[in-house]
Amino acid sequence: MAVRKDNLPMIPNNDDDMASSLMQLASLNDPKIWQEALKMMELMVGYKEDRMVYTCAIKEIRTKFEVLDTEFNVRYQRNPINFITTRLKSNQSIVMKMARKGIPFTIENMEKHVEDIAGIRIICSYVDDIYQLADSLLRQDDVTLLARKDYIQEPKENGYRSLHLIVSVPVFFSNVTRQVPVEVQIRTIAMDFWASLEHQMKYKQEIADEEHIIARLRQCADRIAALDDEMLEIRKQIEAGKNMPTQEELLLQKIRQLEVPIDT
Ligand code: GTP
Ligand code: MG
Repeated sequence: MAVRKDNLPMIPNNDDDMASSLMQLASLNDPKIWQEALKMMELMVGYKEDRMVYTCAIKEIRTKFEVLDTEFNVRYQRNPINFITTRLKSNQSIVMKMARKGIPFTIENMEKHVEDIAGIRIICSYVDDIYQLADSLLRQDDVTLLARKDYIQEPKENGYRSLHLIVSVPVFFSNVTRQVPVEVQIRTIAMDFWASLEHQMKYKQEIADEEHIIARLRQCADRIAALDDEMLEIRKQIEAGKNMPTQEELLLQKIRQLEVPIDT
């Protein structure tokens, strides 16, 4: 390992270096420094394991939505989900959020107070799919609803719309089961399009004519809401216009699909 001129270890920049710096500290023969270093390393190992737990919770919830999408595809030949994105909150965002709320940084506090470390976003075509997917998720025995914010029924002042759920799911590890919170955002493609642009604006330091852009975004949000409603109405009209198939016709349709491979 690299050593500075004064014989102290260099600040490591990866895990291997971290382990070798620890060995270097042991050779300093100072029990106090050694204990402090061990405590810090233990904290870091615990934090990394925690991130693994949140990553696995995302996988659990993702699978639940994928199962619903596959079921719809086979039963009704349509996919309510366009795509899914996931994210693990960055270390920096976690620290900033806790600092903003004035919460001292410990792993216990993080687990208790930061409920959006695991995040999943479900993008649908139609507004009714949003509520149907949310209901189907919440009906599952192992899913517990912790919080629900319906920004579609009550859009934010800036025009933001989405359905937000914080749910808790069990994640089964080799010798322990953990209940883990996951933030689920469900929205239409149009709502997602709007949110991406608005998000870009938030993170720009200085924007010329910001007031004007905010007002335009607000107008776009209203138009998008109207568009989402209209697209749903048209879809329903098309469905209503179709003659209801008889039981026999339905079965025939399904038989025709028998050879179509199931999405994996
Ligand atoms: P956070 O401290 O950001 O987690 O907010 P919160 O705890 O009040 O939760 P809320 O449900 O309002 O928002 C959670 C997440 O939804 C945010 O982190 C964003 O991803 C998204 N979101 C909420 N409001 C907006 C908005 O006005 N614009 C955009 N683009 N995204 C938003
Ligand atoms: Mg958040």
